[in-house]
Amino acid sequence: MRHTTVFISLCMSFGFTSFASIERGQELYSQVCFYCHGNELEGGKGPSLKDEYWSHGSSPKSILTILNKGVPGTEMIGYQGVFPQSDIKALQTFILSKQKGVRELLREEYKNQHFTGLELTHKIFEGTESSNQKIIPENTFWVDNRFAGSIRFQGVFYAWEDGLYDFNINGEGRTLVYIQDELITRIGKDIHQERQLIKSIQLTKGAYKFEILHESKRKFGHRIAGNYGKTNGERIQFHGRSLQGNVPKLIKSNQIEAKVVRKWIRNIAPRSLLCLLPNNVIVAYNPQDRKIEKAWHSALINQTPSLPDRSAAPSKIQGTEIKSFTQLPEISSKNNYLGYQVKGASVIINTSINGQKRKIVITPDKANSFKISEQP
Ligand code: HEC
Repeated sequence: MRHTTVFISLCMSFGFTSFASIERGQELYSQVCFYCHGNELEGGKGPSLKDEYWSHGSSPKSILTILNKGVPGTEMIGYQGVFPQSDIKALQTFILSKQKGVRELLREEYKNQHFTGLELTHKIFEGTESSNQKIIPENTFWVDNRFAGSIRFQGVFYAWEDGLYDFNINGEGRTLVYIQDELITRIGKDIHQERQLIKSIQLTKGAYKFEILHESKRKFGHRIAGNYGKTNGERIQFHGRSLQGNVPKLIKSNQIEAKVVRKWIRNIAPRSLLCLLPNNVIVAYNPQDRKIEKAWHSALINQTPSLPDRSAAPSKIQGTEIKSFTQLPEISSKNNYLGYQVKGASVIINTSINGQKRKIVITPDKANSFKISEQP
């Protein structure tokens, strides 16, 4: 009865008022949402719905708002006119049940002098005004700048299975981690002596109150890194730096197999499949229109910058444009896109024309080109 456990703990943490069924959410998800967000919520055309990066917030309320209203100007439509509210809530519950690790971080910064000479406990933060408060969309424990002060992170910890969990922290200064107000990890010099206390906590799958307190001396930037997860089981790494400003990821084929990605590229239809062939040719194929929109050789994808710009800026393709290529013949009858698969170096796009299945094959050709063909 694991589902019941999850539901009860979500209820307790978030005060859901009406019943929403995970099974119903899953059913709807696998009918509609999987197409863009992946079978396992891992992402595809749309973002992953189970990692720690949430452009629009990972709180139950933010998720519900997105489900109802969508994200205007993107392929994420609002579903409030499509499904009854009970179904939208079921989708929300289903998404929440898939979360793993830390979400919904509120970061507050405090001036150091508030706490000079005091033992760092979460009680002393109560009633002290923070100089800066921010909900951080990417749930890594980072700060904008080096500054002298203390930080408090408050969020939700999603235990993904029943079992023992612990937090392992490295970094300068002193750091304390609490789950449900219980001290789990304490590291660093606290007033008189160096202390370290690490213990595991037994959790059932579900959502828990989570808190980190951290303080560094003026000469250090705030650096917190470590890992957390199941004692003797799966662990999640984290580090105290923002993804922002990091070099954007480059995507290219792995030289043996083709790869298909969907990214927002200016002037390319969002539905287009970007086929990365092992010879570093990229073909943007629009399966709805049966058209190659563009192609490049010596190419790679310069992925969108990290959050918070991630959803606001398109990815870019670097490479040399291939100007002449053969298109498939145009058809006047109804063309339906069914899906794609990668087979070795080739990408196979499954379509149907007037109900008859067809395969479109995109293969590398020599060093700098590609071929497209159609098979029944
Ligand atoms: C046609 C593609 C498509 C379908 C179908 C779709 N989505 Fe989305 N979804 C997107 C895209 C694209 C975004 C990112 C929008 C943006 O922020 O630019 C998104 C964003 C989201 C977000 C916000 C994620 C974040 O990082 O904050 C949630 C939640 C979400 N979708 C849930 C769903 C659910 C549940 C369904 C099924 C009812 C669904 N989506 C169906 C394309 C889709």
